Amino acid sequence: MLSLLLVVVVLGTNANAIQAQTQDDDFWRQNGTVPEPIECGSLPISTTPLNVGDTVTITSAELCDYYGILLEPSSEGGFDVGWMQQGHWVSFDMALSTAGLFNMTIRTASKTGEGAFDLVNQGTSEVYKVFSGVANTQGWQNWETMDAGLVALRKGSTTLRVNSLQSGWNLLSMNFTLVEAFVTYDYMVFAKNFDRGHVGVELAESSEGTLNLDYIFSGDELFFNLTLPQSGKYEIYARVSNPEDVGSFAITHRQTGQVFGIILTLPTTSSWEEWTTVLVGEAYFDAETHNMEIFVLQGGFNLEFLGLNFIDSATGDSEDNHYLVPAKDYTNTNGVEVDPNNGNIGSLDPGDWIEYTLNVVSSGIYILQFYIASPEGWGSFQVVNPQTQEVYGTFDSLPTTESWFSWVSVDIPNVSLSQGRVPIKLEITKGGFNFFVIAFELASDYAEEV
Ligand SMILES: *[C@@H]1O[C@H](CO)[C@@H](O)[C@H](O)[C@H]1NC(C)=O
Ligand SMILES: *[C@@H]1O[C@H](CO)[C@@H](O)[C@H](O)[C@H]1NC(C)=O
Ligand SMILES: *[C@@H]1O[C@H](CO)[C@@H](O)[C@H](O)[C@H]1NC(C)=O
Ligand SMILES: *[C@@H]1O[C@H](CO)[C@@H](O)[C@H](O)[C@H]1NC(C)=O
Ligand SMILES: *[C@@H]1O[C@H](CO)[C@@H](O)[C@H](O)[C@H]1NC(C)=O
Repeated sequence: MLSLLLVVVVLGTNANAIQAQTQDDDFWRQNGTVPEPIECGSLPISTTPLNVGDTVTITSAELCDYYGILLEPSSEGGFDVGWMQQGHWVSFDMALSTAGLFNMTIRTASKTGEGAFDLVNQGTSEVYKVFSGVANTQGWQNWETMDAGLVALRKGSTTLRVNSLQSGWNLLSMNFTLVEAFVTYDYMVFAKNFDRGHVGVELAESSEGTLNLDYIFSGDELFFNLTLPQSGKYEIYARVSNPEDVGSFAITHRQTGQVFGIILTLPTTSSWEEWTTVLVGEAYFDAETHNMEIFVLQGGFNLEFLGLNFIDSATGDSEDNHYLVPAKDYTNTNGVEVDPNNGNIGSLDPGDWIEYTLNVVSSGIYILQFYIASPEGWGSFQVVNPQTQEVYGTFDSLPTTESWFSWVSVDIPNVSLSQGRVPIKLEITKGGFNFFVIAFELASDYAEEV
């Protein structure tokens, strides 16, 4: 939670101000401090979207531009921005990860009951709000919070300027609480745009007036196509509800298994009808049609839509070198069965083996991950290259999982793989576990190793 705290002490000294107040003002102004503004537009924009109810805060020290005012310590702690007369102004850097409608509250003081301002975009001069009628608080340091109403703000960096339209009021803080997030995605994939390869997922009415994919469980197949207008790096968001605190999924390419985003712990929502937006990942996409999939690692959650936002036209890099191979996509096996409902491999016995082909796009050191479930903690296996007989890793025991379908990964952190098709073989030495998916991700390329 961010929250905007700006502190402005203004003592009216315009031509109409009474003599006593001018003396007051000169007296206070002796101890005023000249502000040291931060650079407007320099605050980082969080990658975490705001949720309804979140409050945006900027401290008075983060004032980024001003005219005519000074700082001073306030009676409620921190620093005030003061001496703002009619025509004076103060600006703040607003860095929003979410565009939306915000409820603005403002904490002010006025010994005389004067004071008015407008809130504008310093860059575009767009007027967000005109406010008059600052309450009479019987003192320059007696503060009162007032409801300033709703203001629509865009995502990204905005320099918000408070123009004082009338002398005789002090401003201590302003809060902007998100009331409604605006949907501002460059590209969206809605529930109805998915091919559902598994009977388990149905379309249902969502509390937000659209359709959603209802109760997604591991093994469900959710296919979609992405045709992006422009090649480049994109952020991928998902709108989900997850009251059971168990969801996790990856966004993968259907043919190559490339992982474009993965979220291992979805935030919990209070019910199936409460929705939250999560950042699933950042990835490079070419401007062509991609056959994509939501690969469900762990159910059950609901999904309303995916939203993609263009970041820049940077090309792909090694961060994108992350792939999944579902257990059921083996090239050869002895003695194993695919569970038709959940898409995993089960009924594993000693002596069983399963072979896969990893399509390695660039040589390097990889982390190999095997997603397994073992409610009794049973099972052991080793991973070898069937051509070279190199042993990549051995798992003598497996972690205990909550159920047969609560997947956890066991990892081999340091496997050297050469570009091309690399065969790997899982040799089961003890049964009693389920196996769901292999992930392999470039840890470092050879150049970085040297
Ligand atoms: C200004 O600072 C001086 C010295 O610290 C102090 O004595 C005086 O009370 C201050 N005036 C106000 C109005 O705070
Ligand atoms: C805005 O906040 C004020 C003060 O907390 C509250 O009284 C008002 O109901 C809120 N308005 C909206 C639309 O949430
Ligand atoms: C802003 O929120 C903070 C934290 O809840 C609160 O202390 C402060 O009084 C609020 N200010 C305004 C102007 O609402
Ligand atoms: C995606 O495109 C393929 C052709 O490349 C098509 O067969 C498939 O039906 C499309 N799927 C969806 C969900 O539109
Ligand atoms: C990774 O393996 C190589 C040999 O295959 C070894 O030289 C290196 O020390 C290992 N690094 C780590 C972090 O285990």
